[in-house]
Amino acid sequence: MRKVRVFDTTLRDGEQTPGVSFPLSYKIQIAKQLDKLGVDVIEAGFPAASKGEFEAVKSIVGLSLNSEICGLARIVDEDINAALDSDVDLVHIFISTSRIQIDYTIKKTREQIVEDSVRAVEYIKDHGRKCMFSAMDATRTEVDYLKRIYKAVEEAGVDIINVPDTVGVATPFKFHNLIKELKDHLNIPVDVHCHNDFGLAVANTYAAVLGGADEVQVTVNGIGERAGNASLAEVVMILKSIEGIDLNIRTEYLVETSRLLERFTGFRLPPNTPIVGENAFSHESGIHAHGVIKESSTFEPGLITPEMVGHRRRIILGKHAGRHQIKKILEDAGYSVSEENLTKIFDKVKELGDRGKKVTDLDLFTIAEVVIGELKKEEKAILVDEITVLTGNKITPTAVINADVFNTRRVKSAIGVGPVDAALKAVTELVGESIRITEFKMDAITGGSDALAEVYVTVEDDTGKSFTARGAGPDIVMASIDAVINAVNYLMMKKRMNRTED
Ligand code: KIV
Ligand code: ZN
Repeated sequence: MRKVRVFDTTLRDGEQTPGVSFPLSYKIQIAKQLDKLGVDVIEAGFPAASKGEFEAVKSIVGLSLNSEICGLARIVDEDINAALDSDVDLVHIFISTSRIQIDYTIKKTREQIVEDSVRAVEYIKDHGRKCMFSAMDATRTEVDYLKRIYKAVEEAGVDIINVPDTVGVATPFKFHNLIKELKDHLNIPVDVHCHNDFGLAVANTYAAVLGGADEVQVTVNGIGERAGNASLAEVVMILKSIEGIDLNIRTEYLVETSRLLERFTGFRLPPNTPIVGENAFSHESGIHAHGVIKESSTFEPGLITPEMVGHRRRIILGKHAGRHQIKKILEDAGYSVSEENLTKIFDKVKELGDRGKKVTDLDLFTIAEVVIGELKKEEKAILVDEITVLTGNKITPTAVINADVFNTRRVKSAIGVGPVDAALKAVTELVGESIRITEFKMDAITGGSDALAEVYVTVEDDTGKSFTARGAGPDIVMASIDAVINAVNYLMMKKRMNRTED
Protein backbone atom coordinates (compact mmCIF):
# COMPACT_ATOMS: atom_id res chain seq x y z
CA MET A 1 0.00 0.00 0.00
CA ARG A 2 1.38 3.36 -1.01
CA LYS A 3 2.26 5.75 1.85
CA VAL A 4 2.21 9.57 1.76
CA ARG A 5 3.49 11.81 4.55
CA VAL A 6 1.63 14.86 5.82
CA PHE A 7 3.62 18.03 6.49
CA ASP A 8 1.56 20.62 8.35
CA THR A 9 2.44 24.30 7.99
CA THR A 10 -0.43 25.82 9.99
CA LEU A 11 2.03 27.39 12.43
CA ARG A 12 4.21 28.86 9.68
CA ASP A 13 2.37 29.58 6.39
CA GLY A 14 -0.93 29.45 8.30
CA GLU A 15 0.27 32.18 10.61
CA GLN A 16 0.98 34.30 7.52
CA THR A 17 -2.80 34.59 7.07
CA PRO A 18 -3.60 38.30 7.17
CA GLY A 19 -4.89 39.07 10.66
CA VAL A 20 -3.65 35.89 12.31
CA SER A 21 -0.98 35.86 15.01
CA PHE A 22 -0.89 33.06 17.57
CA PRO A 23 0.32 33.74 21.11
CA LEU A 24 2.76 31.14 22.46
CA SER A 25 0.08 29.29 24.47
CA TYR A 26 -2.02 28.82 21.27
CA LYS A 27 1.02 27.61 19.33
CA ILE A 28 1.72 25.00 21.99
CA GLN A 29 -1.89 23.79 21.96
CA ILE A 30 -1.97 23.70 18.15
CA ALA A 31 1.29 21.72 18.03
CA LYS A 32 -0.05 19.21 20.58
CA GLN A 33 -3.28 18.85 18.61
CA LEU A 34 -1.39 18.30 15.33
CA ASP A 35 0.70 15.65 17.05
CA LYS A 36 -2.49 13.99 18.38
CA LEU A 37 -3.85 14.09 14.82
CA GLY A 38 -0.72 12.28 13.66
CA VAL A 39 0.88 14.70 11.19
CA ASP A 40 4.38 13.55 10.22
CA VAL A 41 5.95 17.02 10.27
CA ILE A 42 4.99 20.24 12.05
CA GLU A 43 6.52 23.35 10.54
CA ALA A 44 6.64 25.27 13.81
CA GLY A 45 7.75 28.66 12.48
CA PHE A 46 10.52 30.81 11.07
CA PRO A 47 13.07 30.97 13.94
CA ALA A 48 15.01 33.95 12.54
CA ALA A 49 11.87 36.09 12.19
CA SER A 50 11.94 37.39 15.79
CA LYS A 51 13.00 36.51 19.31
CA GLY A 52 9.43 35.46 20.12
CA GLU A 53 9.24 33.21 17.05
CA PHE A 54 12.59 31.60 17.97
CA GLU A 55 11.37 30.91 21.53
CA ALA A 56 8.07 29.52 20.22
CA VAL A 57 9.82 27.07 17.88
CA LYS A 58 12.20 26.05 20.67
CA SER A 59 9.29 25.50 23.08
CA ILE A 60 7.54 23.28 20.53
CA VAL A 61 10.75 21.27 20.07
CA GLY A 62 10.83 20.97 23.89
CA LEU A 63 7.43 19.23 23.89
CA SER A 64 9.16 16.08 22.53
CA LEU A 65 6.21 15.25 20.28
CA ASN A 66 6.11 12.29 17.91
CA SER A 67 5.84 14.59 14.89
CA GLU A 68 9.12 15.86 13.43
CA ILE A 69 9.58 19.59 14.06
CA CYS A 70 10.67 21.80 11.19
CA GLY A 71 11.90 25.42 11.09
CA LEU A 72 11.97 27.65 8.00
CA ALA A 73 15.08 29.59 6.88
CA ARG A 74 16.28 31.61 3.90
CA ILE A 75 19.63 30.37 2.54
CA VAL A 76 21.53 32.88 4.67
CA ASP A 77 23.74 32.01 7.66
CA GLU A 78 21.74 34.12 10.11
CA ASP A 79 18.48 32.26 9.33
CA ILE A 80 20.04 28.81 9.16
CA ASN A 81 21.89 29.31 12.46
CA ALA A 82 18.67 30.44 14.16
CA ALA A 83 16.92 27.30 12.89
CA LEU A 84 19.81 25.08 14.04
CA ASP A 85 19.89 26.82 17.45
CA SER A 86 16.17 26.22 17.91
CA ASP A 87 17.01 22.49 17.74
CA VAL A 88 14.48 21.61 15.03
CA ASP A 89 14.79 18.15 13.46
CA LEU A 90 14.40 19.50 9.93
CA VAL A 91 15.58 22.81 8.44
CA HIS A 92 13.43 23.94 5.52
CA ILE A 93 15.41 26.33 3.30
CA PHE A 94 14.02 28.31 0.39
CA ILE A 95 15.13 30.69 -2.35
CA SER A 96 13.28 32.20 -5.31
CA THR A 97 13.99 30.50 -8.63
CA SER A 98 11.51 32.12 -11.05
CA ARG A 99 12.79 34.84 -13.33
CA ILE A 100 10.26 37.39 -12.10
CA GLN A 101 11.16 36.89 -8.44
CA ILE A 102 14.91 36.78 -9.13
CA ASP A 103 14.77 39.99 -11.19
CA TYR A 104 12.69 41.96 -8.71
CA THR A 105 13.61 40.56 -5.30
CA ILE A 106 17.16 39.09 -5.31
CA LYS A 107 20.33 40.52 -6.69
CA LYS A 108 21.98 37.21 -7.63
CA THR A 109 22.66 35.33 -10.83
CA ARG A 110 20.97 32.00 -11.35
CA GLU A 111 24.40 30.34 -11.04
CA GLN A 112 24.97 32.01 -7.66
CA ILE A 113 21.57 30.85 -6.47
CA VAL A 114 22.51 27.23 -7.22
CA GLU A 115 25.89 27.60 -5.51
CA ASP A 116 24.44 29.27 -2.41
CA SER A 117 21.71 26.64 -2.16
CA VAL A 118 24.27 23.83 -2.34
CA ARG A 119 26.38 25.51 0.32
CA ALA A 120 23.36 25.92 2.60
CA VAL A 121 22.43 22.25 2.26
CA GLU A 122 26.00 21.14 3.00
CA TYR A 123 26.16 23.41 6.04
CA ILE A 124 22.92 21.97 7.48
CA LYS A 125 23.98 18.40 6.76
CA ASP A 126 27.38 19.08 8.40
CA HIS A 127 25.40 19.98 11.52
CA GLY A 128 23.70 16.60 11.41
CA ARG A 129 20.19 17.88 10.66
CA LYS A 130 17.69 16.92 8.04
CA CYS A 131 17.20 19.44 5.24
CA MET A 132 14.31 20.29 2.90
CA PHE A 133 14.93 22.58 -0.09
CA SER A 134 12.20 24.71 -1.70
CA ALA A 135 12.62 26.40 -5.07
CA MET A 136 10.23 29.25 -4.37
CA ASP A 137 7.78 30.00 -7.21
CA ALA A 138 8.70 26.63 -8.74
CA THR A 139 5.61 26.60 -10.96
CA ARG A 140 6.75 29.81 -12.71
CA THR A 141 10.36 28.64 -13.01
CA GLU A 142 11.80 27.24 -16.28
CA VAL A 143 11.66 23.47 -15.88
CA ASP A 144 15.29 22.97 -16.97
CA TYR A 145 16.55 25.35 -14.32
CA LEU A 146 14.26 23.76 -11.75
CA LYS A 147 15.66 20.32 -12.54
CA ARG A 148 19.20 21.68 -12.39
CA ILE A 149 18.88 23.27 -8.97
CA TYR A 150 17.01 20.30 -7.47
CA LYS A 151 19.69 17.91 -8.82
CA ALA A 152 22.42 20.10 -7.37
CA VAL A 153 20.89 20.07 -3.87
CA GLU A 154 20.24 16.34 -4.15
CA GLU A 155 23.92 15.82 -4.84
CA ALA A 156 24.75 18.04 -1.87
CA GLY A 157 22.81 15.64 0.37
CA VAL A 158 19.38 17.27 0.78
CA ASP A 159 16.83 14.85 2.28
CA ILE A 160 13.72 16.03 0.46
CA ILE A 161 12.78 18.73 -2.03
CA ASN A 162 9.60 20.79 -1.97
CA VAL A 163 7.85 22.09 -5.09
CA PRO A 164 5.91 25.20 -4.07
CA ASP A 165 3.14 26.66 -6.18
CA THR A 166 3.84 29.94 -4.43
CA VAL A 167 1.29 32.14 -6.19
CA GLY A 168 -1.30 29.42 -6.82
CA VAL A 169 -1.09 29.39 -10.62
CA ALA A 170 -0.67 25.65 -11.10
CA THR A 171 -3.44 23.57 -12.64
CA PRO A 172 -3.93 19.87 -11.86
CA PHE A 173 -2.78 18.36 -15.20
CA LYS A 174 0.28 20.59 -15.53
CA PHE A 175 1.24 20.14 -11.89
CA HIS A 176 0.81 16.36 -12.13
CA ASN A 177 3.16 16.29 -15.14
CA LEU A 178 5.72 18.55 -13.50
CA ILE A 179 5.87 16.36 -10.41
CA LYS A 180 6.16 13.24 -12.55
CA GLU A 181 9.04 14.79 -14.51
CA LEU A 182 10.83 15.79 -11.31
CA LYS A 183 10.29 12.36 -9.78
CA ASP A 184 11.82 10.74 -12.87
CA HIS A 185 14.78 13.11 -12.70
CA LEU A 186 15.51 12.79 -8.95
CA ASN A 187 16.17 10.03 -6.45
CA ILE A 188 14.91 11.73 -3.32
CA PRO A 189 11.40 12.25 -1.91
CA VAL A 190 9.32 15.07 -3.39
CA ASP A 191 7.00 17.25 -1.33
CA VAL A 192 4.46 19.79 -2.65
CA HIS A 193 3.12 23.07 -1.27
CA CYS A 194 0.07 24.57 -3.01
CA HIS A 195 -1.62 27.93 -2.63
CA ASN A 196 -5.30 28.45 -3.26
CA ASP A 197 -5.44 31.63 -5.38
CA PHE A 198 -7.65 29.91 -7.99
CA GLY A 199 -9.28 27.51 -5.54
CA LEU A 200 -7.09 24.67 -6.87
CA ALA A 201 -4.78 24.03 -3.91
CA VAL A 202 -6.43 20.75 -2.93
CA ALA A 203 -6.87 19.59 -6.55
CA ASN A 204 -3.24 20.40 -7.35
CA THR A 205 -1.99 18.60 -4.23
CA TYR A 206 -4.08 15.58 -5.17
CA ALA A 207 -2.78 15.67 -8.77
CA ALA A 208 0.78 15.90 -7.45
CA VAL A 209 0.29 12.76 -5.38
CA LEU A 210 -1.03 10.96 -8.47
CA GLY A 211 2.12 12.21 -10.23
CA GLY A 212 4.30 10.63 -7.54
CA ALA A 213 4.65 13.18 -4.71
CA ASP A 214 5.70 11.54 -1.45
CA GLU A 215 4.67 14.28 0.96
CA VAL A 216 1.99 17.01 1.02
CA GLN A 217 2.08 20.38 2.74
CA VAL A 218 -1.24 21.45 4.17
CA THR A 219 -2.77 23.71 6.80
CA VAL A 220 -5.74 23.26 9.09
CA ASN A 221 -8.81 24.92 7.55
CA GLY A 222 -6.61 25.86 4.56
CA ILE A 223 -5.34 29.03 6.25
CA GLY A 224 -2.23 30.73 4.86
CA GLU A 225 -0.96 33.61 2.73
CA ARG A 226 -3.65 35.35 0.64
CA ALA A 227 -6.29 32.71 -0.30
CA GLY A 228 -4.46 30.16 1.85
CA ASN A 229 -2.96 26.71 1.39
CA ALA A 230 -4.37 23.25 0.70
CA SER A 231 -6.78 22.18 3.41
CA LEU A 232 -5.46 19.37 5.57
CA ALA A 233 -8.85 17.69 6.07
CA GLU A 234 -9.73 17.70 2.38
CA VAL A 235 -6.36 16.45 1.16
CA VAL A 236 -6.22 13.76 3.84
CA MET A 237 -9.71 12.42 3.13
CA ILE A 238 -9.23 12.43 -0.66
CA LEU A 239 -5.98 10.49 -0.35
CA LYS A 240 -7.30 8.09 2.24
CA SER A 241 -10.91 7.51 1.20
CA ILE A 242 -10.77 7.92 -2.56
CA GLU A 243 -7.23 6.71 -3.30
CA GLY A 244 -6.81 4.27 -0.39
CA ILE A 245 -3.40 5.74 0.40
CA ASP A 246 -1.87 4.96 3.78
CA LEU A 247 -1.43 8.02 6.01
CA ASN A 248 -0.49 8.33 9.66
CA ILE A 249 -3.44 10.67 10.33
CA ARG A 250 -6.02 9.78 12.98
CA THR A 251 -8.89 11.16 10.96
CA GLU A 252 -11.35 11.05 13.88
CA TYR A 253 -9.63 14.19 15.19
CA LEU A 254 -10.10 16.23 12.00
CA VAL A 255 -13.19 18.12 13.15
CA GLU A 256 -11.78 18.70 16.64
CA THR A 257 -8.60 20.14 15.09
CA SER A 258 -10.56 22.33 12.70
CA ARG A 259 -12.71 23.73 15.53
CA LEU A 260 -9.59 24.53 17.58
CA LEU A 261 -8.22 26.57 14.69
CA GLU A 262 -11.54 28.29 14.15
CA ARG A 263 -11.40 29.45 17.78
CA PHE A 264 -7.75 30.46 17.68
CA THR A 265 -7.95 32.35 14.38
CA GLY A 266 -11.43 33.81 14.91
CA PHE A 267 -12.27 32.71 11.34
CA ARG A 268 -15.48 30.68 11.19
CA LEU A 269 -15.65 28.20 8.32
CA PRO A 270 -18.56 28.53 5.88
CA PRO A 271 -21.08 25.82 6.84
CA ASN A 272 -20.70 24.13 3.45
CA THR A 273 -16.94 23.54 3.88
CA PRO A 274 -16.17 19.94 2.84
CA ILE A 275 -15.42 17.33 5.54
CA VAL A 276 -15.37 19.61 8.59
CA GLY A 277 -18.01 22.28 7.86
CA GLU A 278 -21.16 22.37 9.96
CA ASN A 279 -23.29 21.14 7.02
CA ALA A 280 -20.87 18.50 5.70
CA PHE A 281 -23.18 15.73 6.89
CA SER A 282 -26.46 17.66 7.19
CA HIS A 283 -29.57 16.69 5.30
CA GLU A 284 -32.71 18.70 4.69
CA SER A 285 -35.98 16.96 5.25
CA GLY A 286 -37.57 15.09 2.35
CA ILE A 287 -36.13 12.45 0.04
CA HIS A 288 -32.57 12.83 1.26
CA ALA A 289 -33.43 12.67 4.96
CA HIS A 290 -35.66 9.67 4.35
CA GLY A 291 -32.92 7.87 2.40
CA VAL A 292 -30.17 8.70 4.86
CA ILE A 293 -32.22 7.48 7.83
CA LYS A 294 -32.54 4.10 6.08
CA GLU A 295 -29.01 3.87 4.68
CA SER A 296 -26.57 6.76 4.95
CA SER A 297 -24.74 6.04 1.69
CA THR A 298 -27.93 6.71 -0.32
CA PHE A 299 -27.23 10.44 -0.15
CA GLU A 300 -23.68 10.60 1.21
CA PRO A 301 -20.45 9.58 -0.54
CA GLY A 302 -20.31 6.42 1.55
CA LEU A 303 -16.50 6.41 1.34
CA ILE A 304 -16.53 8.72 4.31
CA THR A 305 -18.76 8.77 7.37
CA PRO A 306 -19.15 11.51 9.99
CA GLU A 307 -17.62 9.18 12.59
CA MET A 308 -14.46 8.78 10.49
CA VAL A 309 -13.72 12.50 10.77
CA GLY A 310 -15.18 13.16 14.23
CA HIS A 311 -18.31 14.82 12.86
CA ARG A 312 -22.01 14.09 13.33
CA ARG A 313 -24.87 13.60 10.94
CA ARG A 314 -27.73 16.09 11.20
CA ILE A 315 -31.21 15.86 9.79
CA ILE A 316 -32.64 19.33 9.37
CA LEU A 317 -36.38 19.41 9.82
CA GLY A 318 -38.55 22.06 8.24
CA LYS A 319 -42.28 22.62 8.07
CA HIS A 320 -42.69 19.51 5.91
CA ALA A 321 -41.24 17.24 8.55
CA GLY A 322 -43.32 14.16 9.20
CA ARG A 323 -44.41 12.85 12.58
CA HIS A 324 -42.81 9.49 11.71
CA GLN A 325 -39.56 11.10 10.74
CA ILE A 326 -39.40 12.94 14.07
CA LYS A 327 -40.25 9.80 16.00
CA LYS A 328 -37.57 7.79 14.17
CA ILE A 329 -34.86 10.41 14.75
CA LEU A 330 -35.74 10.56 18.45
CA GLU A 331 -35.85 6.78 18.80
CA ASP A 332 -32.50 6.38 17.02
CA ALA A 333 -31.01 8.85 19.46
CA GLY A 334 -32.37 6.81 22.38
CA TYR A 335 -35.40 8.91 23.37
CA SER A 336 -38.61 7.11 24.17
CA VAL A 337 -41.52 9.50 23.80
CA SER A 338 -45.18 8.97 24.55
CA GLU A 339 -47.69 9.73 21.80
CA GLU A 340 -48.82 12.76 23.85
CA ASN A 341 -45.29 14.15 24.07
CA LEU A 342 -44.65 13.34 20.41
CA THR A 343 -47.63 15.50 19.51
CA LYS A 344 -46.24 18.38 21.58
CA ILE A 345 -42.78 17.99 19.99
CA PHE A 346 -44.28 17.71 16.52
CA ASP A 347 -46.38 20.87 17.09
CA LYS A 348 -43.33 22.82 18.25
CA VAL A 349 -41.31 21.72 15.20
CA LYS A 350 -44.20 22.73 12.93
CA GLU A 351 -44.56 26.08 14.69
CA LEU A 352 -40.86 26.79 14.13
CA GLY A 353 -41.14 25.56 10.53
CA ASP A 354 -44.07 27.86 9.87
CA ARG A 355 -41.98 30.74 11.08
CA GLY A 356 -39.44 29.81 8.40
CA LYS A 357 -36.94 28.24 10.81
CA LYS A 358 -34.96 25.09 10.21
CA VAL A 359 -34.78 22.61 13.07
CA THR A 360 -31.60 20.58 13.34
CA ASP A 361 -31.53 17.24 15.07
CA LEU A 362 -29.82 18.92 18.02
CA ASP A 363 -32.65 21.46 18.17
CA LEU A 364 -35.06 18.54 18.07
CA PHE A 365 -33.35 16.77 20.97
CA THR A 366 -33.50 19.97 22.99
CA ILE A 367 -37.20 20.43 22.26
CA ALA A 368 -37.80 16.77 23.18
CA GLU A 369 -35.92 17.06 26.44
CA VAL A 370 -37.82 20.19 27.42
CA VAL A 371 -41.16 18.53 26.57
CA ILE A 372 -40.25 15.29 28.35
CA GLY A 373 -39.03 17.23 31.39
CA GLU A 374 -42.12 19.45 31.58
CA LEU A 375 -44.46 19.05 34.50
CA LYS A 376 -48.10 18.35 33.78
CA LYS A 377 -50.48 21.29 34.14
CA GLU A 378 -51.85 20.07 37.46
CA GLU A 379 -48.30 19.66 38.78
CA LYS A 380 -47.35 23.28 38.15
CA ALA A 381 -47.20 25.89 40.91
CA ILE A 382 -47.04 28.72 38.35
CA LEU A 383 -49.18 28.92 35.24
CA VAL A 384 -48.13 31.90 33.14
CA ASP A 385 -50.87 33.70 31.29
CA GLU A 386 -49.18 36.77 29.80
CA ILE A 387 -45.68 38.17 29.62
CA THR A 388 -44.69 41.56 28.28
CA VAL A 389 -41.08 42.65 28.00
CA LEU A 390 -40.06 46.13 26.89
CA THR A 391 -36.60 47.24 25.93
CA GLY A 392 -34.96 49.90 23.79
CA ASN A 393 -32.24 52.54 23.82
CA LYS A 394 -34.42 55.07 25.70
CA ILE A 395 -36.36 52.65 27.91
CA THR A 396 -35.29 50.95 31.10
CA PRO A 397 -35.85 47.27 30.34
CA THR A 398 -39.12 46.32 32.01
CA ALA A 399 -41.04 43.06 32.31
CA VAL A 400 -44.65 42.44 33.37
CA ILE A 401 -45.91 38.95 34.16
CA ASN A 402 -49.46 37.88 34.70
CA ALA A 403 -49.81 34.35 36.13
CA ASP A 404 -51.65 32.01 38.50
CA VAL A 405 -49.53 31.04 41.47
CA PHE A 406 -51.20 28.17 43.30
CA ASN A 407 -54.46 29.24 41.68
CA THR A 408 -54.19 32.88 42.77
CA ARG A 409 -53.88 35.47 40.02
CA ARG A 410 -50.83 37.71 40.40
CA VAL A 411 -49.39 40.48 38.23
CA LYS A 412 -45.84 41.58 38.86
CA SER A 413 -43.40 43.88 37.12
CA ALA A 414 -39.69 44.54 37.44
CA ILE A 415 -36.94 46.48 35.78
CA GLY A 416 -33.47 45.17 35.02
CA VAL A 417 -30.22 45.90 33.23
CA GLY A 418 -31.55 44.11 30.16
CA PRO A 419 -34.75 42.33 29.08
CA VAL A 420 -33.63 38.94 30.40
CA ASP A 421 -32.65 40.43 33.76
CA ALA A 422 -35.97 42.31 34.04
CA ALA A 423 -37.96 39.19 33.16
CA LEU A 424 -36.09 37.02 35.63
CA LYS A 425 -36.64 39.61 38.38
CA ALA A 426 -40.36 39.73 37.59
CA VAL A 427 -40.55 35.96 37.95
CA THR A 428 -38.89 36.09 41.37
CA GLU A 429 -41.32 38.90 42.40
CA LEU A 430 -44.19 36.74 41.25
CA VAL A 431 -43.19 33.85 43.44
CA GLY A 432 -42.98 36.15 46.42
CA GLU A 433 -40.64 33.82 48.20
CA SER A 434 -36.97 34.27 48.47
CA ILE A 435 -35.50 32.52 45.45
CA ARG A 436 -32.16 33.22 43.84
CA ILE A 437 -30.87 32.49 40.38
CA THR A 438 -27.41 31.12 41.10
CA GLU A 439 -26.42 30.12 37.59
CA PHE A 440 -27.52 31.19 34.14
CA LYS A 441 -26.09 29.79 30.91
CA MET A 442 -27.24 30.31 27.37
CA ASP A 443 -26.16 28.54 24.17
CA ALA A 444 -27.22 29.09 20.58
CA ILE A 445 -27.70 25.56 19.30
CA THR A 446 -27.32 26.46 15.65
CA GLY A 447 -25.83 29.55 14.03
CA GLY A 448 -27.73 32.57 12.71
CA SER A 449 -29.95 35.19 14.27
CA ASP A 450 -32.92 32.79 14.25
CA ALA A 451 -30.99 30.13 16.16
CA LEU A 452 -32.74 28.13 18.80
CA ALA A 453 -31.42 29.34 22.16
CA GLU A 454 -31.02 26.89 24.97
CA VAL A 455 -30.99 28.31 28.48
CA TYR A 456 -29.99 26.54 31.68
CA VAL A 457 -30.75 28.14 35.04
CA THR A 458 -30.11 26.99 38.56
CA VAL A 459 -32.53 28.41 41.11
CA GLU A 460 -32.04 28.18 44.88
CA ASP A 461 -34.76 28.63 47.50
CA ASP A 462 -34.45 30.03 51.05
CA THR A 463 -33.72 26.58 52.47
CA GLY A 464 -30.70 26.22 50.19
CA LYS A 465 -32.35 23.64 47.90
CA SER A 466 -31.55 24.18 44.26
CA PHE A 467 -32.82 22.89 40.95
CA THR A 468 -31.48 23.24 37.42
CA ALA A 469 -33.93 23.44 34.55
CA ARG A 470 -33.80 24.45 30.97
CA GLY A 471 -35.86 26.24 28.40
CA ALA A 472 -35.44 26.50 24.68
CA GLY A 473 -36.85 28.61 21.88
CA PRO A 474 -35.94 31.12 19.20
CA ASP A 475 -36.67 34.02 21.58
CA ILE A 476 -33.94 34.28 24.22
CA VAL A 477 -36.10 36.18 26.71
CA MET A 478 -38.92 33.65 26.50
CA ALA A 479 -36.49 30.72 26.67
CA SER A 480 -34.95 32.26 29.83
CA ILE A 481 -38.34 32.78 31.46
CA ASP A 482 -39.39 29.22 30.60
CA ALA A 483 -36.22 27.85 32.16
CA VAL A 484 -36.69 29.85 35.38
CA ILE A 485 -40.36 28.96 35.64
CA ASN A 486 -39.58 25.28 35.08
CA ALA A 487 -37.04 25.38 37.92
CA VAL A 488 -39.27 27.40 40.26
CA ASN A 489 -42.18 25.06 39.61
CA TYR A 490 -40.14 22.09 40.70
CA LEU A 491 -38.84 23.83 43.83
CA MET A 492 -42.24 25.14 44.90
CA MET A 493 -44.05 21.88 44.32
CA LYS A 494 -41.36 20.03 46.22
CA LYS A 495 -41.65 22.47 49.12
CA ARG A 496 -45.44 22.14 49.24
CA MET A 497 -45.20 18.32 49.16
CA ASN A 498 -42.70 18.37 52.03
CA ARG A 499 -45.02 20.61 54.07
CA THR A 500 -47.95 18.25 53.43
CA GLU A 501 -45.81 15.28 54.47
CA ASP A 502 -44.87 17.14 57.71
O1 KIV B 1 4.56 29.54 -0.81
C1 KIV B 1 5.79 29.34 -0.72
O2 KIV B 1 6.53 29.33 -1.69
C2 KIV B 1 6.31 29.11 0.64
C3 KIV B 1 7.74 28.69 0.70
C4 KIV B 1 8.43 29.26 1.87
C5 KIV B 1 7.83 27.21 0.65
O3 KIV B 1 5.59 29.20 1.59
ZN1 ZN C 1 3.46 29.22 0.99
